[in-house]
Amino acid sequence: MELSGKRIVLGVTGGIAAYKAADLVRQIIRQGASLQVAMTEAATHFVTPVTFQALSGRPVYTDQWDARVANNMAHIDLSRGADAILVAPASADFLAKLAHGMAGDLLTTLALARNCPLLVAPAMNRQMWDHPATQRNAAQLRRDGVGILGPAVGEQACGESGHGRMLEPDEIVAELIAHFQPKHLAGKRVLLTAGPTFEAIDPVRGITNLSSGRMGYALARACREAGATVTLISGPVHLPCPHQVVRIDAGSALSMRAEVMRHVEHSDIFIAVAAVADYRPEVVTEQKIKKTGVPPTIKLVENPDILAEVAALPKAPFCVGFAAESEHLGEHAEAKRLRKKIPLLVGNLVHESLGGEDAAVTLFDDAGRHPLAPAPKLELARQIVARIAHLLESR
Ligand code: C5P
Repeated sequence: MELSGKRIVLGVTGGIAAYKAADLVRQIIRQGASLQVAMTEAATHFVTPVTFQALSGRPVYTDQWDARVANNMAHIDLSRGADAILVAPASADFLAKLAHGMAGDLLTTLALARNCPLLVAPAMNRQMWDHPATQRNAAQLRRDGVGILGPAVGEQACGESGHGRMLEPDEIVAELIAHFQPKHLAGKRVLLTAGPTFEAIDPVRGITNLSSGRMGYALARACREAGATVTLISGPVHLPCPHQVVRIDAGSALSMRAEVMRHVEHSDIFIAVAAVADYRPEVVTEQKIKKTGVPPTIKLVENPDILAEVAALPKAPFCVGFAAESEHLGEHAEAKRLRKKIPLLVGNLVHESLGGEDAAVTLFDDAGRHPLAPAPKLELARQIVARIAHLLESR
Protein backbone atom coordinates (compact mmCIF):
# COMPACT_ATOMS: atom_id res chain seq x y z
CA MET A 1 0.00 0.00 0.00
CA GLU A 2 2.43 2.58 -1.26
CA LEU A 3 -0.17 5.32 -1.83
CA SER A 4 -2.07 5.07 1.45
CA GLY A 5 -3.84 8.29 2.32
CA LYS A 6 -3.07 9.92 -1.03
CA ARG A 7 -5.81 11.58 -3.03
CA ILE A 8 -5.28 11.35 -6.76
CA VAL A 9 -7.28 12.91 -9.59
CA LEU A 10 -6.93 10.79 -12.72
CA GLY A 11 -7.59 12.60 -15.97
CA VAL A 12 -8.31 10.46 -19.03
CA THR A 13 -8.06 11.99 -22.50
CA GLY A 14 -9.02 10.63 -25.91
CA GLY A 15 -6.72 7.91 -27.17
CA ILE A 16 -6.86 4.16 -27.57
CA ALA A 17 -4.63 3.78 -24.49
CA ALA A 18 -7.67 4.96 -22.50
CA TYR A 19 -8.62 1.29 -22.12
CA LYS A 20 -5.45 0.81 -20.05
CA ALA A 21 -6.57 3.59 -17.72
CA ALA A 22 -9.20 1.17 -16.38
CA ASP A 23 -6.43 -1.11 -15.11
CA LEU A 24 -4.54 1.94 -13.87
CA VAL A 25 -7.54 2.88 -11.70
CA ARG A 26 -7.52 -0.58 -10.10
CA GLN A 27 -3.80 -0.48 -9.46
CA ILE A 28 -3.85 2.98 -7.91
CA ILE A 29 -6.73 2.02 -5.62
CA ARG A 30 -4.97 -1.23 -4.70
CA GLN A 31 -2.06 0.91 -3.46
CA GLY A 32 -4.41 2.58 -0.97
CA ALA A 33 -5.12 5.89 -2.73
CA SER A 34 -8.54 7.44 -3.18
CA LEU A 35 -9.20 8.28 -6.78
CA GLN A 36 -11.39 10.75 -8.61
CA VAL A 37 -11.68 10.30 -12.37
CA ALA A 38 -12.29 13.15 -14.80
CA MET A 39 -12.52 12.52 -18.55
CA THR A 40 -12.46 14.63 -21.66
CA GLU A 41 -15.38 14.27 -24.04
CA ALA A 42 -13.04 12.55 -26.53
CA ALA A 43 -12.05 9.94 -23.93
CA THR A 44 -15.70 8.88 -23.54
CA HIS A 45 -15.61 7.66 -27.16
CA PHE A 46 -13.02 5.04 -26.14
CA VAL A 47 -14.21 4.00 -22.67
CA THR A 48 -17.43 4.98 -20.96
CA PRO A 49 -17.59 6.91 -17.67
CA VAL A 50 -19.55 3.95 -16.25
CA THR A 51 -16.42 1.79 -16.42
CA PHE A 52 -14.42 4.26 -14.37
CA GLN A 53 -17.30 4.89 -11.99
CA ALA A 54 -17.59 1.17 -11.28
CA LEU A 55 -13.84 0.78 -10.78
CA SER A 56 -13.28 3.90 -8.68
CA GLY A 57 -16.55 3.76 -6.74
CA ARG A 58 -17.13 7.46 -7.39
CA PRO A 59 -19.05 9.50 -9.92
CA VAL A 60 -16.96 10.42 -12.95
CA TYR A 61 -16.88 13.99 -14.20
CA THR A 62 -16.68 14.90 -17.87
CA ASP A 63 -18.22 18.33 -18.00
CA GLN A 64 -17.25 21.60 -16.38
CA TRP A 65 -20.94 22.52 -16.15
CA ASP A 66 -21.80 19.37 -14.18
CA ALA A 67 -24.62 20.42 -11.85
CA ARG A 68 -23.74 17.67 -9.33
CA VAL A 69 -21.02 19.91 -7.87
CA ALA A 70 -22.87 22.06 -5.33
CA ASN A 71 -21.26 25.41 -6.14
CA ASN A 72 -20.90 24.50 -9.84
CA MET A 73 -17.16 24.84 -9.63
CA ALA A 74 -16.08 21.31 -10.57
CA HIS A 75 -12.82 22.67 -11.97
CA ILE A 76 -11.84 23.96 -8.52
CA ASP A 77 -13.48 21.49 -6.17
CA LEU A 78 -12.26 18.28 -7.76
CA SER A 79 -8.59 19.02 -7.30
CA ARG A 80 -8.72 20.72 -3.90
CA GLY A 81 -7.11 18.46 -1.34
CA ALA A 82 -5.63 16.27 -4.09
CA ASP A 83 -2.00 15.20 -3.72
CA ALA A 84 -1.52 14.99 -7.49
CA ILE A 85 -3.34 15.13 -10.78
CA LEU A 86 -2.28 12.34 -13.13
CA VAL A 87 -3.38 12.43 -16.76
CA ALA A 88 -3.10 9.04 -18.49
CA PRO A 89 -3.34 8.78 -21.39
CA ALA A 90 -2.41 12.35 -22.27
CA SER A 91 -3.13 13.02 -25.96
CA ALA A 92 -1.11 15.35 -28.22
CA ASP A 93 -4.08 17.72 -28.21
CA PHE A 94 -4.20 17.77 -24.42
CA LEU A 95 -0.45 18.45 -24.11
CA ALA A 96 -0.77 21.30 -26.61
CA LYS A 97 -3.64 22.86 -24.67
CA LEU A 98 -1.79 22.43 -21.39
CA ALA A 99 1.39 24.02 -22.75
CA HIS A 100 -0.58 27.07 -23.80
CA GLY A 101 -2.61 27.38 -20.62
CA MET A 102 -5.88 26.80 -22.44
CA ALA A 103 -8.89 26.04 -20.29
CA GLY A 104 -11.84 25.20 -22.50
CA ASP A 105 -13.03 22.01 -20.81
CA LEU A 106 -13.11 20.40 -17.39
CA LEU A 107 -9.71 18.66 -17.51
CA THR A 108 -7.71 21.60 -18.86
CA THR A 109 -9.43 23.90 -16.37
CA LEU A 110 -8.66 21.48 -13.55
CA ALA A 111 -5.00 21.44 -14.59
CA LEU A 112 -4.80 25.22 -14.74
CA ALA A 113 -6.61 25.82 -11.46
CA ARG A 114 -4.65 23.20 -9.50
CA ASN A 115 -2.55 23.67 -6.40
CA CYS A 116 -0.89 20.24 -6.53
CA PRO A 117 1.67 18.53 -8.81
CA LEU A 118 0.65 17.44 -12.32
CA LEU A 119 1.96 14.27 -13.99
CA VAL A 120 1.11 13.28 -17.55
CA ALA A 121 1.64 10.00 -19.41
CA PRO A 122 1.64 10.84 -23.13
CA ALA A 123 0.17 8.33 -25.58
CA MET A 124 0.08 8.94 -29.31
CA ASN A 125 1.29 7.84 -32.70
CA ARG A 126 5.08 8.09 -33.03
CA GLN A 127 4.92 10.82 -35.65
CA MET A 128 2.63 12.89 -33.47
CA TRP A 129 5.07 12.50 -30.55
CA ASP A 130 8.16 13.23 -32.69
CA HIS A 131 6.54 16.27 -34.30
CA PRO A 132 8.39 19.49 -33.41
CA ALA A 133 5.15 21.00 -32.13
CA THR A 134 4.60 18.17 -29.61
CA GLN A 135 8.27 18.19 -28.61
CA ARG A 136 8.07 21.95 -28.09
CA ASN A 137 4.96 21.51 -25.95
CA ALA A 138 6.56 18.72 -23.91
CA ALA A 139 9.68 20.85 -23.31
CA GLN A 140 7.50 23.75 -22.22
CA LEU A 141 5.57 21.52 -19.84
CA ARG A 142 8.82 20.23 -18.31
CA ARG A 143 9.93 23.82 -17.77
CA ASP A 144 6.58 24.50 -16.12
CA GLY A 145 7.28 21.68 -13.65
CA VAL A 146 4.91 19.10 -15.13
CA GLY A 147 6.17 15.53 -14.71
CA ILE A 148 6.21 13.71 -18.06
CA LEU A 149 6.09 9.94 -17.64
CA GLY A 150 7.49 8.16 -20.69
CA PRO A 151 6.36 7.66 -23.36
CA ALA A 152 7.78 4.24 -24.12
CA VAL A 153 9.05 2.86 -27.40
CA GLY A 154 7.18 -0.03 -28.94
CA GLU A 155 4.29 -1.32 -30.97
CA GLN A 156 1.40 1.08 -31.44
CA ALA A 157 -2.30 0.55 -32.05
CA CYS A 158 -1.91 2.08 -35.54
CA GLY A 159 0.45 -0.76 -36.48
CA GLU A 160 3.57 1.40 -36.43
CA SER A 161 6.37 1.15 -33.92
CA GLY A 162 8.30 3.89 -32.16
CA HIS A 163 8.14 6.47 -29.37
CA GLY A 164 4.70 7.45 -28.16
CA ARG A 165 3.36 4.32 -26.50
CA MET A 166 1.89 4.99 -23.09
CA LEU A 167 3.83 3.44 -20.20
CA GLU A 168 2.15 0.32 -18.85
CA PRO A 169 -0.15 0.89 -15.85
CA ASP A 170 2.31 -0.75 -13.41
CA GLU A 171 5.08 1.56 -14.66
CA ILE A 172 2.85 4.61 -14.25
CA VAL A 173 2.01 3.51 -10.71
CA ALA A 174 5.74 3.04 -9.97
CA GLU A 175 6.35 6.60 -11.24
CA LEU A 176 3.48 7.93 -9.14
CA ILE A 177 4.85 6.24 -6.01
CA ALA A 178 8.35 7.54 -6.83
CA HIS A 179 6.95 11.04 -7.22
CA PHE A 180 6.07 11.11 -3.52
CA GLN A 181 9.52 9.98 -2.33
CA PRO A 182 12.07 12.57 -1.15
CA LYS A 183 14.82 13.14 -3.75
CA HIS A 184 17.71 12.33 -1.39
CA LEU A 185 19.97 11.13 -4.20
CA ALA A 186 19.05 13.56 -6.99
CA GLY A 187 21.70 13.50 -9.70
CA LYS A 188 23.75 10.70 -8.07
CA ARG A 189 24.87 7.60 -9.95
CA VAL A 190 24.42 4.37 -8.05
CA LEU A 191 25.89 0.98 -8.86
CA LEU A 192 24.54 -2.08 -7.04
CA THR A 193 25.07 -5.80 -6.96
CA ALA A 194 22.22 -8.10 -5.98
CA GLY A 195 21.18 -11.73 -5.81
CA PRO A 196 23.30 -14.86 -5.53
CA THR A 197 26.13 -15.88 -7.83
CA PHE A 198 26.27 -19.19 -9.66
CA GLU A 199 29.66 -20.86 -9.75
CA ALA A 200 29.64 -23.51 -12.43
CA ILE A 201 31.02 -27.00 -11.78
CA ASP A 202 30.12 -28.43 -15.20
CA PRO A 203 27.64 -27.35 -17.94
CA VAL A 204 24.62 -28.26 -15.82
CA ARG A 205 25.69 -27.96 -12.19
CA GLY A 206 26.97 -25.27 -9.93
CA ILE A 207 27.31 -23.77 -6.47
CA THR A 208 24.84 -21.08 -5.49
CA ASN A 209 22.94 -19.85 -2.43
CA LEU A 210 19.45 -18.91 -1.26
CA SER A 211 19.67 -15.14 -1.78
CA SER A 212 16.39 -14.03 -3.43
CA GLY A 213 17.77 -10.67 -4.55
CA ARG A 214 14.78 -8.89 -2.95
CA MET A 215 16.80 -6.55 -0.74
CA GLY A 216 19.10 -5.52 -3.59
CA TYR A 217 16.18 -4.97 -5.95
CA ALA A 218 14.33 -2.97 -3.28
CA LEU A 219 17.42 -0.81 -2.83
CA ALA A 220 17.80 -0.31 -6.57
CA ARG A 221 14.18 0.86 -6.68
CA ALA A 222 14.59 3.09 -3.60
CA CYS A 223 17.70 4.73 -5.10
CA ARG A 224 15.83 5.37 -8.35
CA GLU A 225 12.84 6.78 -6.45
CA ALA A 226 15.27 9.07 -4.62
CA GLY A 227 16.35 10.55 -7.96
CA ALA A 228 19.52 8.55 -8.72
CA THR A 229 20.56 6.94 -11.99
CA VAL A 230 20.80 3.26 -11.13
CA THR A 231 22.74 0.35 -12.63
CA LEU A 232 22.04 -3.04 -11.11
CA ILE A 233 24.45 -5.93 -11.66
CA SER A 234 22.31 -8.93 -10.90
CA GLY A 235 22.97 -12.57 -10.21
CA PRO A 236 20.31 -15.12 -11.26
CA VAL A 237 17.00 -14.15 -9.60
CA HIS A 238 13.32 -14.33 -10.46
CA LEU A 239 12.43 -10.68 -9.98
CA PRO A 240 11.27 -8.01 -12.42
CA CYS A 241 13.75 -5.20 -12.94
CA PRO A 242 12.56 -2.04 -11.14
CA HIS A 243 11.22 0.66 -13.46
CA GLN A 244 13.95 2.88 -14.93
CA VAL A 245 16.79 0.81 -13.50
CA VAL A 246 19.40 -0.56 -15.91
CA ARG A 247 19.99 -4.23 -15.16
CA ILE A 248 23.05 -6.16 -16.28
CA ASP A 249 23.00 -9.90 -15.70
CA ALA A 250 26.05 -11.59 -14.24
CA GLY A 251 26.20 -15.28 -13.35
CA SER A 252 29.46 -15.92 -11.56
CA ALA A 253 31.46 -13.87 -9.07
CA LEU A 254 34.10 -13.27 -11.74
CA SER A 255 31.59 -11.94 -14.27
CA MET A 256 29.94 -9.84 -11.55
CA ARG A 257 33.33 -8.39 -10.66
CA ALA A 258 34.08 -7.65 -14.34
CA GLU A 259 30.76 -5.79 -14.76
CA VAL A 260 31.27 -3.84 -11.54
CA MET A 261 34.76 -2.78 -12.62
CA ARG A 262 33.39 -1.74 -16.02
CA HIS A 263 30.83 0.59 -14.43
CA VAL A 264 32.34 1.72 -11.15
CA GLU A 265 34.32 4.62 -12.56
CA HIS A 266 31.08 6.45 -13.32
CA SER A 267 29.50 5.81 -9.92
CA ASP A 268 29.12 8.02 -6.87
CA ILE A 269 27.77 5.22 -4.68
CA PHE A 270 28.42 1.46 -4.72
CA ILE A 271 26.05 -0.78 -2.79
CA ALA A 272 27.12 -4.44 -2.61
CA VAL A 273 24.07 -6.46 -1.71
CA ALA A 274 24.91 -9.59 -3.70
CA ALA A 275 25.59 -12.80 -1.81
CA VAL A 276 28.78 -13.49 -3.74
CA ALA A 277 30.09 -17.04 -3.37
CA ASP A 278 33.30 -17.04 -1.36
CA TYR A 279 34.69 -19.93 -3.43
CA ARG A 280 34.36 -21.28 -6.97
CA PRO A 281 35.47 -24.56 -8.50
CA GLU A 282 39.03 -24.22 -9.76
CA VAL A 283 38.11 -25.87 -13.06
CA VAL A 284 34.79 -26.02 -14.85
CA THR A 285 34.63 -29.27 -16.79
CA GLU A 286 33.52 -28.85 -20.38
CA GLN A 287 31.43 -32.03 -20.33
CA LYS A 288 28.90 -33.11 -17.74
CA ILE A 289 30.56 -35.05 -14.92
CA LYS A 290 29.45 -38.69 -15.18
CA LYS A 291 28.49 -40.84 -12.25
CA THR A 292 31.28 -43.41 -12.09
CA GLY A 293 30.82 -44.76 -8.60
CA VAL A 294 33.79 -42.73 -7.36
CA PRO A 295 32.58 -39.36 -6.01
CA PRO A 296 34.49 -36.56 -7.71
CA THR A 297 36.67 -34.17 -5.74
CA ILE A 298 35.96 -30.55 -6.55
CA LYS A 299 38.78 -28.20 -5.64
CA LEU A 300 37.63 -24.73 -4.71
CA VAL A 301 39.54 -21.47 -5.04
CA GLU A 302 38.72 -18.13 -3.45
CA ASN A 303 36.69 -15.51 -5.31
CA PRO A 304 37.80 -11.88 -5.35
CA ASP A 305 36.09 -9.68 -2.76
CA ILE A 306 34.37 -7.20 -5.08
CA LEU A 307 33.36 -4.77 -2.35
CA ALA A 308 36.82 -4.64 -0.73
CA GLU A 309 38.36 -4.14 -4.17
CA VAL A 310 36.05 -1.24 -5.01
CA ALA A 311 36.57 0.34 -1.58
CA ALA A 312 40.34 0.25 -2.17
CA LEU A 313 40.17 2.05 -5.54
CA PRO A 314 41.97 5.42 -5.59
CA LYS A 315 38.72 7.19 -6.51
CA ALA A 316 36.38 4.89 -4.64
CA PRO A 317 32.67 5.70 -4.63
CA PHE A 318 30.82 5.83 -1.30
CA CYS A 319 30.69 2.11 -0.46
CA VAL A 320 27.91 0.27 1.35
CA GLY A 321 28.20 -3.39 2.29
CA PHE A 322 25.84 -6.01 3.63
CA ALA A 323 26.51 -8.71 6.17
CA ALA A 324 24.23 -11.67 6.67
CA GLU A 325 25.20 -13.38 9.89
CA SER A 326 23.72 -16.35 11.71
CA GLU A 327 24.88 -15.13 15.15
CA HIS A 328 26.78 -12.34 16.97
CA LEU A 329 25.60 -9.80 14.40
CA GLY A 330 27.08 -6.75 16.15
CA GLU A 331 30.64 -8.04 16.45
CA HIS A 332 30.83 -9.69 13.03
CA ALA A 333 29.23 -6.80 11.18
CA GLU A 334 31.40 -4.09 12.69
CA ALA A 335 34.53 -6.21 12.18
CA LYS A 336 33.54 -6.67 8.54
CA ARG A 337 32.97 -2.94 8.06
CA LEU A 338 36.42 -2.13 9.40
CA ARG A 339 38.11 -4.94 7.45
CA LYS A 340 36.57 -3.85 4.15
CA LYS A 341 37.16 -0.17 5.03
CA ILE A 342 33.65 0.96 4.17
CA PRO A 343 31.68 3.81 5.75
CA LEU A 344 28.34 1.98 6.03
CA LEU A 345 27.41 -1.64 6.53
CA VAL A 346 23.91 -3.10 6.76
CA GLY A 347 23.79 -6.15 9.00
CA ASN A 348 21.06 -8.68 9.36
CA LEU A 349 20.50 -12.08 10.91
CA VAL A 350 19.85 -14.59 8.13
CA HIS A 351 16.85 -16.22 9.79
CA GLU A 352 15.18 -12.79 10.03
CA SER A 353 15.69 -11.71 6.44
CA LEU A 354 16.62 -14.35 3.89
CA GLY A 355 14.10 -14.72 1.07
CA GLY A 356 11.14 -13.04 2.80
CA GLU A 357 9.32 -9.79 2.06
CA ASP A 358 10.19 -8.29 5.45
CA ALA A 359 13.52 -7.96 7.22
CA ALA A 360 15.14 -6.56 10.34
CA VAL A 361 18.48 -4.82 9.83
CA THR A 362 20.98 -2.75 11.79
CA LEU A 363 23.10 -0.04 10.21
CA PHE A 364 26.75 0.23 11.29
CA ASP A 365 28.72 3.40 10.59
CA ASP A 366 31.25 5.68 12.30
CA ALA A 367 28.52 7.07 14.54
CA GLY A 368 27.71 3.59 15.91
CA ARG A 369 24.91 1.15 15.32
CA HIS A 370 21.36 2.04 14.34
CA PRO A 371 18.79 -0.76 14.49
CA LEU A 372 15.84 -0.26 12.12
CA ALA A 373 12.45 -1.64 13.13
CA PRO A 374 11.38 -4.78 11.19
CA ALA A 375 9.63 -3.67 8.00
CA PRO A 376 9.08 -4.59 4.36
CA LYS A 377 12.35 -4.54 2.41
CA LEU A 378 11.32 -1.53 0.30
CA GLU A 379 10.64 0.47 3.45
CA LEU A 380 14.02 -0.52 4.91
CA ALA A 381 15.67 0.30 1.58
CA ARG A 382 14.24 3.83 1.73
CA GLN A 383 15.63 4.28 5.25
CA ILE A 384 19.04 3.01 4.13
CA VAL A 385 18.95 5.49 1.23
CA ALA A 386 18.19 8.32 3.67
CA ARG A 387 21.16 7.25 5.83
CA ILE A 388 23.46 7.10 2.77
CA ALA A 389 22.36 10.61 1.76
CA HIS A 390 22.94 11.88 5.30
CA LEU A 391 26.44 10.38 5.47
CA LEU A 392 27.31 11.71 2.00
CA GLU A 393 26.17 15.18 3.03
CA SER A 394 28.19 15.21 6.23
CA ARG A 395 31.40 14.07 4.50
O1 C5P B 1 32.74 -11.06 3.44
P1 C5P B 1 31.27 -11.20 3.28
O2 C5P B 1 30.86 -12.06 2.13
O3 C5P B 1 30.55 -11.62 4.51
O4 C5P B 1 30.80 -9.71 3.00
C1 C5P B 1 29.55 -9.39 2.56
C2 C5P B 1 29.59 -8.10 1.80
O5 C5P B 1 30.67 -8.09 0.86
C3 C5P B 1 28.36 -7.89 0.96
O6 C5P B 1 28.18 -6.50 0.82
C4 C5P B 1 28.75 -8.54 -0.36
O7 C5P B 1 27.99 -8.06 -1.45
C5 C5P B 1 30.21 -8.17 -0.48
N1 C5P B 1 31.05 -9.19 -1.17
C6 C5P B 1 31.60 -8.90 -2.38
N2 C5P B 1 32.41 -9.84 -2.99
C7 C5P B 1 32.65 -11.03 -2.41
C8 C5P B 1 32.08 -11.32 -1.17
C9 C5P B 1 31.27 -10.38 -0.57
O8 C5P B 1 31.37 -7.83 -2.94
N3 C5P B 1 33.44 -11.91 -3.01
